[in-house]
Amino acid sequence: MALPEEFLQRLKDANPIEQVVSSYVRMRRSGKNLMGLCPFHGEKTPSFVLYPENDSFYCFGCHVGGDTITFVRRIENLDYMEAVKMLAQRAGLDMPEDTRRNDGTARIKMRILEANREAARWFHRCLIGPEGTDALAYLRGRKLSDGIITRFGLGYAPDSWQGLSNHLRKLGFTDEELVTANLASRGGRGIYDRFRGRVIFPIIDVRGNVTGFSGRAVGDNGPKYLNTAETLVFEKGRGLFALNFAKNAGGQRLLLAEGPMDVIALHQAGFNFAVATQGTALTQQQAQLMTHYAKEVLLCYDADAAGQKASERAIPILRNAGLKVRVITIPEGKDPDEFIRTRGADRFRQLLDGSGNDVEYRLNKIRAKYDPDSADGRVNILREAIELLADLTGELEADVYAGKLAGEFRVEKATLLSQIDQRRRRRQKEDNAKEYRQIVRDTGGSVRDSINPQRSAHIKAARAEEALIAYLMRNPDRAAEVFAALPAEEFTTDFNRNLYIRLQEHLQSHPAGGTVALTVFSEDHSPDEMSRIAEILAKNNANANNRAAERDYIRVIREEHRKMTPQELAQADDETILAQMEALRRKKQ
Ligand code: CTP
Ligand code: MN
Repeated sequence: MALPEEFLQRLKDANPIEQVVSSYVRMRRSGKNLMGLCPFHGEKTPSFVLYPENDSFYCFGCHVGGDTITFVRRIENLDYMEAVKMLAQRAGLDMPEDTRRNDGTARIKMRILEANREAARWFHRCLIGPEGTDALAYLRGRKLSDGIITRFGLGYAPDSWQGLSNHLRKLGFTDEELVTANLASRGGRGIYDRFRGRVIFPIIDVRGNVTGFSGRAVGDNGPKYLNTAETLVFEKGRGLFALNFAKNAGGQRLLLAEGPMDVIALHQAGFNFAVATQGTALTQQQAQLMTHYAKEVLLCYDADAAGQKASERAIPILRNAGLKVRVITIPEGKDPDEFIRTRGADRFRQLLDGSGNDVEYRLNKIRAKYDPDSADGRVNILREAIELLADLTGELEADVYAGKLAGEFRVEKATLLSQIDQRRRRRQKEDNAKEYRQIVRDTGGSVRDSINPQRSAHIKAARAEEALIAYLMRNPDRAAEVFAALPAEEFTTDFNRNLYIRLQEHLQSHPAGGTVALTVFSEDHSPDEMSRIAEILAKNNANANNRAAERDYIRVIREEHRKMTPQELAQADDETILAQMEALRRKKQ
Protein backbone atom coordinates (compact mmCIF):
# COMPACT_ATOMS: atom_id res chain seq x y z
CA MET A 1 0.00 0.00 0.00
CA ALA A 2 2.29 2.67 -1.26
CA LEU A 3 1.62 6.23 -0.25
CA PRO A 4 1.73 8.82 -3.03
CA GLU A 5 5.06 10.63 -3.08
CA GLU A 6 3.24 13.96 -3.13
CA PHE A 7 1.66 13.11 0.16
CA LEU A 8 4.97 12.05 1.66
CA GLN A 9 6.52 15.28 0.48
CA ARG A 10 3.79 17.33 2.16
CA LEU A 11 4.09 15.22 5.28
CA LYS A 12 7.80 15.86 5.41
CA ASP A 13 7.46 19.60 4.79
CA ALA A 14 4.86 19.89 7.51
CA ASN A 15 7.00 17.99 10.00
CA PRO A 16 10.53 19.39 9.95
CA ILE A 17 12.78 16.89 11.68
CA GLU A 18 14.12 19.52 14.11
CA GLN A 19 10.61 20.20 15.35
CA VAL A 20 9.56 16.60 15.70
CA VAL A 21 12.75 15.48 17.43
CA SER A 22 12.91 18.55 19.68
CA SER A 23 9.61 17.59 21.24
CA TYR A 24 11.36 14.47 22.58
CA VAL A 25 15.00 15.45 22.95
CA ARG A 26 16.71 18.67 23.94
CA MET A 27 18.81 19.67 20.93
CA ARG A 28 21.55 22.26 20.57
CA ARG A 29 22.53 23.86 17.30
CA SER A 30 25.96 23.04 16.00
CA GLY A 31 26.63 24.68 12.64
CA LYS A 32 24.11 23.48 10.07
CA ASN A 33 23.18 20.56 12.28
CA LEU A 34 21.82 19.94 15.76
CA MET A 35 23.22 17.77 18.52
CA GLY A 36 21.79 16.19 21.62
CA LEU A 37 21.81 13.21 23.95
CA CYS A 38 20.63 10.12 22.11
CA PRO A 39 17.16 8.98 23.24
CA PHE A 40 17.90 5.44 22.11
CA HIS A 41 20.83 4.67 24.38
CA GLY A 42 22.20 6.11 27.61
CA GLU A 43 25.03 8.57 27.15
CA LYS A 44 26.53 11.56 28.88
CA THR A 45 28.12 13.30 25.94
CA PRO A 46 25.96 14.00 22.90
CA SER A 47 26.52 11.84 19.84
CA PHE A 48 23.03 12.17 18.39
CA VAL A 49 23.04 14.43 15.32
CA LEU A 50 20.20 15.91 13.27
CA TYR A 51 20.79 16.86 9.65
CA PRO A 52 17.94 19.19 8.68
CA GLU A 53 19.40 19.36 5.18
CA ASN A 54 18.24 15.87 4.31
CA ASP A 55 15.79 15.31 7.13
CA SER A 56 17.83 12.64 8.81
CA PHE A 57 19.23 11.79 12.21
CA TYR A 58 22.09 9.55 13.17
CA CYS A 59 23.64 8.53 16.48
CA PHE A 60 27.39 7.95 16.31
CA GLY A 61 27.16 6.08 19.62
CA CYS A 62 24.53 3.43 18.94
CA HIS A 63 24.29 3.72 15.13
CA VAL A 64 20.59 4.29 15.07
CA GLY A 65 19.39 6.69 12.41
CA GLY A 66 16.80 7.43 9.79
CA ASP A 67 14.25 9.98 8.68
CA THR A 68 11.46 11.62 10.66
CA ILE A 69 9.14 8.67 10.15
CA THR A 70 11.78 6.22 11.39
CA PHE A 71 12.38 8.43 14.41
CA VAL A 72 8.69 8.35 15.33
CA ARG A 73 8.54 4.61 14.70
CA ARG A 74 11.38 3.98 17.06
CA ILE A 75 10.51 6.37 19.82
CA GLU A 76 6.79 5.61 19.86
CA ASN A 77 7.19 1.95 18.97
CA LEU A 78 4.89 2.17 15.94
CA ASP A 79 4.90 0.52 12.56
CA TYR A 80 5.39 2.52 9.37
CA MET A 81 1.76 3.35 8.68
CA GLU A 82 1.02 4.27 12.29
CA ALA A 83 3.98 6.63 12.37
CA VAL A 84 2.84 8.28 9.15
CA LYS A 85 -0.64 8.71 10.63
CA MET A 86 0.74 10.22 13.78
CA LEU A 87 2.81 12.75 11.82
CA ALA A 88 -0.16 13.54 9.59
CA GLN A 89 -2.26 14.16 12.65
CA ARG A 90 0.43 16.31 14.21
CA ALA A 91 0.44 18.53 11.13
CA GLY A 92 -3.31 18.43 10.51
CA LEU A 93 -3.01 16.60 7.20
CA ASP A 94 -5.60 14.15 5.95
CA MET A 95 -4.39 10.67 5.09
CA PRO A 96 -4.86 9.73 1.42
CA GLU A 97 -8.26 8.07 0.86
CA ASP A 98 -7.33 4.45 0.30
CA THR A 99 -4.98 4.23 3.27
CA ARG A 100 -7.51 5.21 5.89
CA ARG A 101 -8.77 1.71 6.37
CA ASN A 102 -6.65 -0.18 8.81
CA ASP A 103 -4.01 -2.54 7.65
CA GLY A 104 -2.72 -5.71 9.34
CA THR A 105 -0.94 -4.94 12.59
CA ALA A 106 -2.80 -1.71 13.18
CA ARG A 107 -6.06 -3.66 13.03
CA ILE A 108 -4.90 -6.29 15.47
CA LYS A 109 -3.67 -3.62 17.86
CA MET A 110 -7.05 -1.94 17.67
CA ARG A 111 -8.78 -5.22 18.46
CA ILE A 112 -6.53 -5.81 21.47
CA LEU A 113 -7.31 -2.35 22.79
CA GLU A 114 -11.03 -2.94 22.28
CA ALA A 115 -10.84 -6.29 24.06
CA ASN A 116 -8.90 -4.69 26.91
CA ARG A 117 -11.46 -1.93 27.28
CA GLU A 118 -14.31 -4.43 27.44
CA ALA A 119 -12.33 -6.58 29.86
CA ALA A 120 -11.71 -3.60 32.15
CA ARG A 121 -15.44 -2.85 32.16
CA TRP A 122 -16.30 -6.43 32.97
CA PHE A 123 -13.69 -6.66 35.75
CA HIS A 124 -15.10 -3.50 37.29
CA ARG A 125 -18.67 -4.80 37.14
CA CYS A 126 -17.53 -8.02 38.83
CA LEU A 127 -15.90 -6.03 41.61
CA ILE A 128 -19.04 -4.16 42.50
CA GLY A 129 -21.30 -7.16 41.81
CA PRO A 130 -22.01 -10.15 44.06
CA GLU A 131 -18.85 -12.10 43.10
CA GLY A 132 -16.75 -9.15 44.15
CA THR A 133 -17.85 -8.92 47.76
CA ASP A 134 -14.60 -10.22 49.23
CA ALA A 135 -12.36 -8.35 46.82
CA LEU A 136 -14.16 -5.08 47.47
CA ALA A 137 -13.90 -5.68 51.20
CA TYR A 138 -10.21 -6.30 50.71
CA LEU A 139 -9.71 -2.96 48.91
CA ARG A 140 -11.79 -1.09 51.45
CA GLY A 141 -9.79 -2.83 54.17
CA ARG A 142 -6.73 -1.26 52.57
CA LYS A 143 -8.46 2.08 53.05
CA LEU A 144 -9.28 2.80 49.43
CA SER A 145 -12.38 4.95 49.01
CA ASP A 146 -15.14 4.02 46.57
CA GLY A 147 -14.32 7.20 44.69
CA ILE A 148 -10.70 6.23 44.06
CA ILE A 149 -11.71 2.67 43.16
CA THR A 150 -13.96 4.07 40.44
CA ARG A 151 -11.43 6.66 39.31
CA PHE A 152 -8.77 4.02 38.72
CA GLY A 153 -11.34 1.62 37.29
CA LEU A 154 -10.25 -1.15 39.64
CA GLY A 155 -11.84 -4.52 39.10
CA TYR A 156 -12.02 -8.13 40.14
CA ALA A 157 -11.33 -11.22 38.09
CA PRO A 158 -13.52 -13.95 39.58
CA ASP A 159 -11.93 -17.28 40.37
CA SER A 160 -13.30 -19.01 37.28
CA TRP A 161 -11.65 -20.42 34.18
CA GLN A 162 -13.68 -18.81 31.44
CA GLY A 163 -15.75 -16.01 32.92
CA LEU A 164 -14.02 -13.26 30.96
CA SER A 165 -13.40 -15.36 27.86
CA ASN A 166 -17.09 -16.26 27.56
CA HIS A 167 -18.12 -12.66 28.07
CA LEU A 168 -15.75 -11.39 25.37
CA ARG A 169 -16.71 -14.17 22.97
CA LYS A 170 -20.29 -12.99 23.24
CA LEU A 171 -19.10 -9.54 22.23
CA GLY A 172 -17.57 -10.98 19.09
CA PHE A 173 -13.93 -11.45 20.03
CA THR A 174 -12.24 -14.57 18.72
CA ASP A 175 -10.20 -16.93 20.90
CA GLU A 176 -7.21 -15.96 18.84
CA GLU A 177 -7.72 -12.29 19.70
CA LEU A 178 -8.07 -13.02 23.42
CA VAL A 179 -4.82 -14.98 23.43
CA THR A 180 -3.05 -12.24 21.44
CA ALA A 181 -4.27 -9.71 23.99
CA ASN A 182 -2.90 -11.99 26.72
CA LEU A 183 -6.31 -11.98 28.41
CA ALA A 184 -6.48 -15.74 27.95
CA SER A 185 -4.03 -18.58 27.52
CA ARG A 186 -4.34 -21.63 25.34
CA GLY A 187 -4.63 -24.91 27.23
CA GLY A 188 -5.36 -28.53 26.34
CA ARG A 189 -9.09 -27.92 26.26
CA GLY A 190 -9.35 -24.53 24.61
CA ILE A 191 -8.55 -21.18 26.14
CA TYR A 192 -8.81 -20.13 29.80
CA ASP A 193 -8.72 -16.75 31.55
CA ARG A 194 -5.32 -15.45 32.51
CA PHE A 195 -6.47 -13.46 35.55
CA ARG A 196 -8.38 -15.45 38.15
CA GLY A 197 -9.22 -14.58 41.73
CA ARG A 198 -7.36 -11.29 41.56
CA VAL A 199 -7.96 -7.62 42.15
CA ILE A 200 -7.36 -5.93 38.81
CA PHE A 201 -5.50 -2.68 38.14
CA PRO A 202 -6.01 -1.57 34.54
CA ILE A 203 -2.96 0.03 32.98
CA ILE A 204 -3.92 3.04 30.89
CA ASP A 205 -1.56 4.96 28.62
CA VAL A 206 -1.43 8.72 28.11
CA ARG A 207 -3.87 8.48 25.22
CA GLY A 208 -6.42 6.76 27.43
CA ASN A 209 -6.02 3.28 25.96
CA VAL A 210 -6.17 0.28 28.29
CA THR A 211 -2.92 -1.39 27.33
CA GLY A 212 -2.75 -4.11 29.98
CA PHE A 213 -3.54 -5.22 33.50
CA SER A 214 -1.86 -5.91 36.77
CA GLY A 215 -3.64 -8.39 39.04
CA ARG A 216 -3.02 -8.77 42.77
CA ALA A 217 -3.90 -12.01 44.51
CA VAL A 218 -6.61 -11.53 47.11
CA GLY A 219 -5.78 -14.71 48.95
CA ASP A 220 -2.45 -16.48 49.15
CA ASN A 221 -2.66 -18.43 45.92
CA GLY A 222 -0.16 -17.92 43.16
CA PRO A 223 2.28 -15.06 42.86
CA LYS A 224 1.31 -11.82 44.62
CA TYR A 225 1.18 -9.88 41.37
CA LEU A 226 0.50 -11.10 37.84
CA ASN A 227 0.91 -8.68 34.95
CA THR A 228 0.00 -8.71 31.28
CA ALA A 229 2.94 -10.21 29.43
CA GLU A 230 4.28 -8.45 26.37
CA THR A 231 1.66 -7.92 23.65
CA LEU A 232 1.48 -5.80 20.52
CA VAL A 233 0.24 -2.90 22.66
CA PHE A 234 1.96 -3.57 25.96
CA GLU A 235 5.61 -3.73 26.76
CA LYS A 236 6.91 -3.86 30.29
CA GLY A 237 9.36 -1.09 30.84
CA ARG A 238 7.70 1.19 28.37
CA GLY A 239 4.76 2.95 30.00
CA LEU A 240 4.13 4.08 33.55
CA PHE A 241 1.13 3.25 35.69
CA ALA A 242 -1.14 6.29 36.29
CA LEU A 243 0.79 8.56 33.95
CA ASN A 244 -2.55 9.36 32.32
CA PHE A 245 -3.59 11.08 35.55
CA ALA A 246 -0.21 12.31 36.69
CA LYS A 247 1.13 13.79 33.48
CA ASN A 248 -0.13 17.30 34.03
CA ALA A 249 -0.85 17.20 37.73
CA GLY A 250 2.45 17.99 39.36
CA GLY A 251 3.70 21.05 37.52
CA GLN A 252 6.76 19.42 35.96
CA ARG A 253 7.18 17.00 38.87
CA LEU A 254 6.47 13.30 39.08
CA LEU A 255 6.56 11.03 42.09
CA LEU A 256 7.90 7.58 41.26
CA ALA A 257 6.74 4.65 43.41
CA GLU A 258 7.15 0.89 43.09
CA GLY A 259 3.68 -0.37 42.31
CA PRO A 260 0.00 0.38 41.69
CA MET A 261 -1.08 0.08 45.34
CA ASP A 262 1.40 2.77 46.37
CA VAL A 263 0.38 5.01 43.50
CA ILE A 264 -3.32 4.73 44.24
CA ALA A 265 -2.77 5.43 47.94
CA LEU A 266 -0.69 8.45 46.98
CA HIS A 267 -3.34 9.79 44.60
CA GLN A 268 -6.01 9.30 47.23
CA ALA A 269 -3.94 11.29 49.70
CA GLY A 270 -3.71 14.14 47.19
CA PHE A 271 -0.35 13.32 45.62
CA ASN A 272 -1.85 12.96 42.20
CA PHE A 273 1.44 13.22 40.36
CA ALA A 274 2.53 9.73 41.37
CA VAL A 275 3.37 7.03 38.82
CA ALA A 276 4.89 3.55 39.02
CA THR A 277 6.79 1.04 36.97
CA GLN A 278 5.15 -2.34 36.56
CA GLY A 279 7.14 -4.49 38.93
CA THR A 280 10.20 -4.07 36.75
CA ALA A 281 13.30 -2.04 37.17
CA LEU A 282 13.07 1.47 35.74
CA THR A 283 14.18 1.61 32.11
CA GLN A 284 15.77 4.39 30.07
CA GLN A 285 12.62 4.50 27.99
CA GLN A 286 10.51 5.22 31.04
CA ALA A 287 12.91 7.94 32.17
CA GLN A 288 12.71 9.41 28.69
CA LEU A 289 8.94 9.31 28.85
CA MET A 290 8.98 11.22 32.14
CA THR A 291 11.01 14.01 30.58
CA HIS A 292 7.96 14.86 28.45
CA TYR A 293 6.03 15.82 31.55
CA ALA A 294 8.56 16.61 34.25
CA LYS A 295 11.85 18.25 35.06
CA GLU A 296 12.11 16.67 38.48
CA VAL A 297 11.38 13.18 39.77
CA LEU A 298 10.79 12.43 43.44
CA LEU A 299 11.86 8.86 44.02
CA CYS A 300 9.77 7.18 46.61
CA TYR A 301 10.58 3.52 46.57
CA ASP A 302 10.04 1.16 49.49
CA ALA A 303 12.29 1.57 52.50
CA ASP A 304 13.39 -2.08 52.39
CA ALA A 305 16.73 -3.23 51.02
CA ALA A 306 15.27 -4.07 47.61
CA GLY A 307 13.72 -0.61 47.34
CA GLN A 308 16.96 1.08 48.29
CA LYS A 309 18.87 -0.93 45.75
CA ALA A 310 16.31 0.00 43.13
CA SER A 311 16.77 3.68 44.04
CA GLU A 312 20.53 3.45 43.56
CA ARG A 313 19.90 1.97 40.14
CA ALA A 314 17.20 4.44 39.15
CA ILE A 315 19.07 7.62 40.09
CA PRO A 316 21.67 7.55 37.31
CA ILE A 317 19.06 6.52 34.75
CA LEU A 318 16.90 9.51 35.64
CA ARG A 319 19.83 11.91 35.75
CA ASN A 320 21.13 10.74 32.41
CA ALA A 321 17.74 11.50 30.92
CA GLY A 322 18.25 15.06 32.14
CA LEU A 323 15.89 14.90 35.11
CA LYS A 324 16.55 16.32 38.55
CA VAL A 325 16.14 13.70 41.23
CA ARG A 326 15.10 13.91 44.85
CA VAL A 327 14.84 10.93 47.13
CA ILE A 328 12.13 10.54 49.72
CA THR A 329 13.28 8.36 52.57
CA ILE A 330 10.40 6.62 54.27
CA PRO A 331 11.19 5.70 57.87
CA GLU A 332 10.58 2.38 59.58
CA GLY A 333 10.87 0.10 56.59
CA LYS A 334 7.49 1.03 55.20
CA ASP A 335 6.25 1.61 51.68
CA PRO A 336 4.36 4.82 50.78
CA ASP A 337 0.98 3.10 51.00
CA GLU A 338 1.58 1.82 54.53
CA PHE A 339 3.16 5.05 55.64
CA ILE A 340 0.20 7.13 54.52
CA ARG A 341 -2.24 4.68 56.06
CA THR A 342 -0.55 4.66 59.44
CA ARG A 343 0.89 8.18 59.68
CA GLY A 344 -1.33 10.22 57.39
CA ALA A 345 -0.95 12.44 54.36
CA ASP A 346 0.44 15.39 56.31
CA ARG A 347 3.37 13.39 57.59
CA PHE A 348 4.02 12.24 54.06
CA ARG A 349 4.00 15.81 52.83
CA GLN A 350 6.63 16.60 55.43
CA LEU A 351 8.80 13.79 54.11
CA LEU A 352 8.31 15.15 50.64
CA ASP A 353 9.24 18.69 51.62
CA GLY A 354 12.25 17.46 53.53
CA SER A 355 13.46 15.14 50.79
CA GLY A 356 17.05 15.68 49.92
CA ASN A 357 18.20 15.73 46.38
CA ASP A 358 19.90 12.58 45.23
CA VAL A 359 23.43 13.85 45.88
CA GLU A 360 22.60 14.62 49.49
CA TYR A 361 20.99 11.21 49.75
CA ARG A 362 23.98 9.40 48.37
CA LEU A 363 26.45 11.45 50.43
CA ASN A 364 24.54 10.46 53.55
CA LYS A 365 24.81 6.81 52.58
CA ILE A 366 28.57 7.24 52.24
CA ARG A 367 28.87 9.12 55.55
CA ALA A 368 26.99 6.33 57.30
CA LYS A 369 29.38 3.68 56.00
CA TYR A 370 32.49 4.90 57.83
CA ASP A 371 33.46 6.35 61.18
CA PRO A 372 33.95 10.10 60.76
CA ASP A 373 35.87 10.26 64.04
CA SER A 374 38.80 8.26 62.70
CA ALA A 375 41.23 9.64 60.16
CA ASP A 376 40.84 6.46 58.18
CA GLY A 377 37.07 6.82 58.11
CA ARG A 378 37.30 10.42 56.95
CA VAL A 379 39.66 9.52 54.13
CA ASN A 380 37.30 6.80 52.98
CA ILE A 381 34.31 9.09 53.08
CA LEU A 382 36.11 11.72 51.03
CA ARG A 383 37.41 9.19 48.56
CA GLU A 384 33.93 7.87 47.83
CA ALA A 385 32.44 11.35 47.82
CA ILE A 386 34.95 12.39 45.15
CA GLU A 387 33.88 9.42 43.03
CA LEU A 388 30.29 10.45 43.41
CA LEU A 389 30.85 14.11 42.63
CA ALA A 390 32.96 13.24 39.60
CA ASP A 391 29.94 11.42 38.27
CA LEU A 392 27.76 14.51 38.32
CA THR A 393 27.35 16.25 35.03
CA GLY A 394 27.04 19.74 36.52
CA GLU A 395 30.21 21.66 37.38
CA LEU A 396 28.24 23.89 39.68
CA GLU A 397 26.82 21.02 41.68
CA ALA A 398 30.25 19.50 42.18
CA ASP A 399 31.57 22.87 43.28
CA VAL A 400 28.83 23.38 45.85
CA TYR A 401 29.25 19.95 47.42
CA ALA A 402 33.04 20.14 47.36
CA GLY A 403 32.69 23.37 49.35
CA LYS A 404 30.40 21.72 51.86
CA LEU A 405 32.62 18.69 52.30
CA ALA A 406 35.73 20.85 52.62
CA GLY A 407 34.10 22.68 55.51
CA GLU A 408 32.78 19.54 57.11
CA PHE A 409 36.07 17.61 57.00
CA ARG A 410 38.42 20.60 57.20
CA VAL A 411 40.29 20.01 53.95
CA GLU A 412 41.04 22.37 51.08
CA LYS A 413 38.22 22.76 48.60
CA ALA A 414 40.74 23.19 45.79
CA THR A 415 42.22 19.78 46.59
CA LEU A 416 38.83 18.15 46.37
CA LEU A 417 38.04 19.91 43.12
CA SER A 418 41.28 18.89 41.48
CA GLN A 419 40.73 15.29 42.53
CA ILE A 420 37.22 15.42 41.12
CA ASP A 421 38.61 16.78 37.90
CA GLN A 422 41.22 14.04 37.66
CA ARG A 423 38.61 11.38 38.30
CA ARG A 424 36.41 12.88 35.61
CA ARG A 425 39.13 12.82 33.00
CA ARG A 426 39.91 9.21 33.74
CA ARG A 427 36.21 8.35 33.58
CA GLN A 428 35.89 10.11 30.23
CA LYS A 429 38.74 8.05 28.83
CA GLU A 430 37.16 4.87 30.14
CA ASP A 431 33.81 5.84 28.64
CA ASN A 432 35.37 6.50 25.27
CA ALA A 433 37.17 3.19 25.32
CA LYS A 434 33.97 1.44 26.35
CA GLU A 435 32.00 3.08 23.59
CA TYR A 436 34.69 2.13 21.09
CA ARG A 437 34.66 -1.49 22.24
CA GLN A 438 30.89 -1.47 22.01
CA ILE A 439 31.02 -0.20 18.45
CA VAL A 440 33.48 -2.92 17.53
CA ARG A 441 31.21 -5.46 19.18
CA ASP A 442 28.05 -4.10 17.53
CA THR A 443 29.54 -4.21 14.11
CA GLY A 444 31.14 -7.54 14.97
CA GLY A 445 34.41 -5.84 14.08
CA SER A 446 32.65 -5.74 10.72
CA VAL A 447 32.72 -9.54 10.65
CA ARG A 448 28.98 -9.95 10.53
CA ASP A 449 26.95 -7.24 8.90
CA SER A 450 23.35 -8.34 8.69
CA ILE A 451 22.18 -5.28 6.76
CA ASN A 452 24.76 -5.44 4.01
CA PRO A 453 26.38 -8.86 4.38
CA GLN A 454 28.58 -8.36 1.32
CA ARG A 455 30.10 -5.19 2.69
CA SER A 456 32.99 -6.64 4.67
CA ALA A 457 34.23 -8.72 1.74
CA HIS A 458 34.00 -5.75 -0.63
CA ILE A 459 34.78 -2.84 1.57
CA LYS A 460 36.32 -0.67 -1.13
CA ALA A 461 33.40 -1.12 -3.50
CA ALA A 462 30.87 -0.60 -0.73
CA ARG A 463 32.52 2.63 0.39
CA ALA A 464 32.45 4.07 -3.12
CA GLU A 465 28.85 2.96 -3.58
CA GLU A 466 27.87 4.63 -0.36
CA ALA A 467 29.74 7.81 -1.20
CA LEU A 468 27.99 7.94 -4.56
CA ILE A 469 24.56 7.43 -3.01
CA ALA A 470 25.17 10.21 -0.48
CA TYR A 471 26.49 12.40 -3.30
CA LEU A 472 23.39 11.84 -5.43
CA MET A 473 21.12 12.63 -2.55
CA ARG A 474 22.86 15.95 -2.12
CA ASN A 475 23.09 16.61 -5.86
CA PRO A 476 20.01 15.20 -7.57
CA ASP A 477 20.70 17.42 -10.56
CA ARG A 478 23.62 15.10 -11.37
CA ALA A 479 21.41 12.02 -11.30
CA ALA A 480 20.49 11.68 -14.96
CA GLU A 481 24.12 11.69 -16.11
CA VAL A 482 25.31 9.41 -13.34
CA PHE A 483 22.56 6.88 -13.95
CA ALA A 484 23.38 6.89 -17.65
CA ALA A 485 27.08 6.38 -16.98
CA LEU A 486 26.71 3.72 -14.31
CA PRO A 487 24.00 1.07 -14.54
CA ALA A 488 22.87 -0.53 -11.30
CA GLU A 489 24.36 -3.86 -12.36
CA GLU A 490 27.81 -2.48 -11.73
CA PHE A 491 27.16 -2.19 -8.01
CA THR A 492 28.81 -4.96 -6.05
CA THR A 493 26.71 -5.09 -2.90
CA ASP A 494 23.01 -5.86 -3.15
CA PHE A 495 21.92 -3.57 -0.36
CA ASN A 496 23.58 -0.52 -1.88
CA ARG A 497 22.39 -1.49 -5.34
CA ASN A 498 18.81 -1.50 -4.12
CA LEU A 499 19.25 1.98 -2.71
CA TYR A 500 20.66 3.13 -6.03
CA ILE A 501 17.70 1.66 -7.91
CA ARG A 502 15.22 3.22 -5.52
CA LEU A 503 16.89 6.59 -5.99
CA GLN A 504 16.71 6.16 -9.72
CA GLU A 505 12.99 5.39 -9.55
CA HIS A 506 12.42 8.36 -7.35
CA LEU A 507 14.40 10.84 -9.38
CA GLN A 508 12.81 9.74 -12.65
CA SER A 509 9.41 10.66 -11.35
CA HIS A 510 10.68 13.65 -9.35
CA PRO A 511 13.46 15.34 -11.25
CA ALA A 512 14.74 18.68 -9.98
CA GLY A 513 14.31 20.19 -6.59
CA GLY A 514 16.70 20.46 -3.67
CA THR A 515 18.23 17.46 -1.97
CA VAL A 516 16.60 14.08 -1.64
CA ALA A 517 15.29 13.28 1.78
CA LEU A 518 15.68 9.94 3.47
CA THR A 519 11.92 9.52 3.47
CA VAL A 520 12.24 8.07 -0.02
CA PHE A 521 13.45 4.86 1.59
CA SER A 522 11.27 4.83 4.65
CA GLU A 523 8.36 2.77 3.41
CA ASP A 524 10.39 -0.12 2.01
CA HIS A 525 13.08 -0.33 4.66
CA SER A 526 13.04 -1.53 8.25
CA PRO A 527 14.19 0.80 11.03
CA ASP A 528 17.51 -1.09 11.15
CA GLU A 529 18.04 -0.59 7.44
CA MET A 530 17.10 3.06 7.84
CA SER A 531 19.82 3.32 10.47
CA ARG A 532 22.32 2.14 7.91
CA ILE A 533 21.13 4.60 5.28
CA ALA A 534 21.33 7.44 7.77
CA GLU A 535 24.82 6.26 8.65
CA ILE A 536 25.81 6.35 5.00
CA LEU A 537 24.65 9.96 4.79
CA ALA A 538 26.20 10.99 8.09
CA LYS A 539 29.58 9.43 7.36
CA ASN A 540 29.76 10.90 3.87
CA ASN A 541 28.49 14.26 4.95
CA ALA A 542 31.84 16.02 4.68
CA ASN A 543 32.92 14.49 1.35
CA ALA A 544 33.95 16.64 -1.57
CA ASN A 545 30.95 17.69 -3.59
CA ASN A 546 32.40 18.06 -7.07
CA ARG A 547 32.63 16.34 -10.45
CA ALA A 548 36.09 14.98 -9.71
CA ALA A 549 34.74 13.18 -6.68
CA GLU A 550 31.80 11.90 -8.72
CA ARG A 551 34.08 10.45 -11.43
CA ASP A 552 36.21 8.88 -8.78
CA TYR A 553 33.30 7.07 -7.12
CA ILE A 554 32.10 5.75 -10.46
CA ARG A 555 35.57 4.58 -11.44
CA VAL A 556 36.11 2.70 -8.18
CA ILE A 557 32.66 1.11 -8.34
CA ARG A 558 33.39 -0.17 -11.85
CA GLU A 559 36.89 -1.40 -11.09
CA GLU A 560 35.79 -3.19 -7.96
CA HIS A 561 32.88 -4.80 -9.75
CA ARG A 562 35.21 -6.18 -12.42
CA LYS A 563 37.32 -7.77 -9.72
CA MET A 564 34.45 -9.95 -8.63
CA THR A 565 35.07 -13.60 -9.33
CA PRO A 566 32.64 -15.54 -11.54
CA GLN A 567 31.40 -17.40 -8.45
CA GLU A 568 30.70 -14.19 -6.67
CA LEU A 569 28.88 -12.88 -9.67
CA ALA A 570 26.84 -16.04 -9.84
CA GLN A 571 26.05 -15.77 -6.17
CA ALA A 572 24.87 -12.22 -6.53
CA ASP A 573 21.20 -12.29 -6.15
CA ASP A 574 20.36 -12.03 -9.86
CA GLU A 575 16.74 -12.81 -9.39
CA THR A 576 16.23 -9.63 -7.41
CA ILE A 577 18.33 -7.69 -9.88
CA LEU A 578 16.27 -8.92 -12.81
CA ALA A 579 13.03 -8.27 -11.02
CA GLN A 580 14.08 -4.74 -10.23
CA MET A 581 15.33 -4.07 -13.73
CA GLU A 582 12.01 -5.33 -15.04
CA ALA A 583 10.09 -3.09 -12.66
CA LEU A 584 12.17 -0.15 -13.75
CA ARG A 585 11.53 -0.84 -17.43
CA ARG A 586 7.80 -1.08 -16.83
CA LYS A 587 7.86 2.19 -15.00
CA LYS A 588 9.69 3.95 -17.83
CA GLN A 589 7.10 2.93 -20.38
N1 CTP B 1 5.60 -7.11 41.84
C1 CTP B 1 5.36 -8.02 40.82
N2 CTP B 1 5.33 -9.36 41.09
C2 CTP B 1 5.50 -9.81 42.37
C3 CTP B 1 5.74 -8.89 43.40
C4 CTP B 1 5.79 -7.55 43.10
O1 CTP B 1 5.19 -7.64 39.67
N3 CTP B 1 5.42 -11.12 42.60
C5 CTP B 1 5.62 -5.69 41.52
C6 CTP B 1 4.26 -5.05 41.66
O2 CTP B 1 4.08 -4.09 40.64
C7 CTP B 1 4.34 -4.41 43.01
C8 CTP B 1 5.78 -3.98 43.09
O3 CTP B 1 6.49 -4.97 42.39
O4 CTP B 1 3.45 -3.34 43.12
C9 CTP B 1 6.30 -3.82 44.48
O5 CTP B 1 6.20 -5.06 45.18
P1 CTP B 1 5.77 -5.10 46.70
O6 CTP B 1 6.41 -3.99 47.44
O7 CTP B 1 5.98 -6.51 47.18
O8 CTP B 1 4.21 -4.91 46.60
P2 CTP B 1 3.32 -3.67 47.08
O9 CTP B 1 3.31 -2.66 46.02
O10 CTP B 1 3.72 -3.26 48.44
O11 CTP B 1 1.89 -4.35 47.08
P3 CTP B 1 1.00 -4.72 48.37
O12 CTP B 1 1.00 -3.52 49.22
O13 CTP B 1 -0.31 -5.04 47.75
O14 CTP B 1 1.64 -5.90 49.01
MN1 MN C 1 2.63 -2.46 49.94
